[in-house]
Amino acid sequence: MKTTLLGGTLALLLIAFGAFANGPAQADDPPLYDRLGGLPAISLAVSEFVDDFIQDPLIMANPAVAEQKTAVAAPYIKFQVTALVCELSGGPCQYTGKDMREAHDGLDVTAEEWDRMVEIFVATLDSLEVPEAEKQELLDLLGPTRDDIVMAGG
Ligand code: HEM
Repeated sequence: MKTTLLGGTLALLLIAFGAFANGPAQADDPPLYDRLGGLPAISLAVSEFVDDFIQDPLIMANPAVAEQKTAVAAPYIKFQVTALVCELSGGPCQYTGKDMREAHDGLDVTAEEWDRMVEIFVATLDSLEVPEAEKQELLDLLGPTRDDIVMAGG
C-alpha cells in the first residue's frame, strides 16, 4: 500500500517534470498554462518557490514580510499564487484573492527584495527544467505587478 502510494506520487511528479521539459515555444503553441503542464506542474513550482522564498535571509530581513509570510500562511499564499499564475497563463482558474497593491500594502517591499524574489523564482524554474521560452513568458507575466508591490524607494 505504502509502495503503491509512493509509486503513484513519483509517477505524478515525473509527469509534472516531463511537462516542464518540453521543447522551445512556437507561435502557434497551446497556451502557456498547457505548455507548463497545467495545475499539477504550476502548483509544484509555486510550492517550491514559496518554500524557498520564506526561508530566504534577504527577504525575511524585511520585518513586515517576515511577520506576514509565516509558515502557517504559506499554504494559503501557495493557493492564491497558483490560482493567479493559472489564470494569467491562460488556464481555467479565476483568481479571487486581493489585488496586488492591497496584498502588499504596508510591507515596504524594496527593489532589492524584488530582485531577490526574481532570482529565487528563476532558480525554482531552472531546478524544474522549465524551458527558456516558458520561463521568460512567466517572468513577463509577473513583471507588470512590480509597480504595485515595490513601495520602498523602488
Ligand atoms: C519581493 C516580492 C514579494 C514579497 C516580499 C511578497 C510578500 C507577500 C506577503 C508578506 C504576503 C502576505 C500578505 C498578508 O497576508 O497580509 C503576500 C501575499 C500575496 N502575494 Fe506576494 N510578495 C512578493 C511578490 C509577489 C508576486 C510577484 C506575486 C505574484 C505576481 C505575489 C502574489 C501574492 C498573492 C497572490 C498574495 C495573496 C493575496 C491575498 O491574500 O489574497 N507576490 N505577498
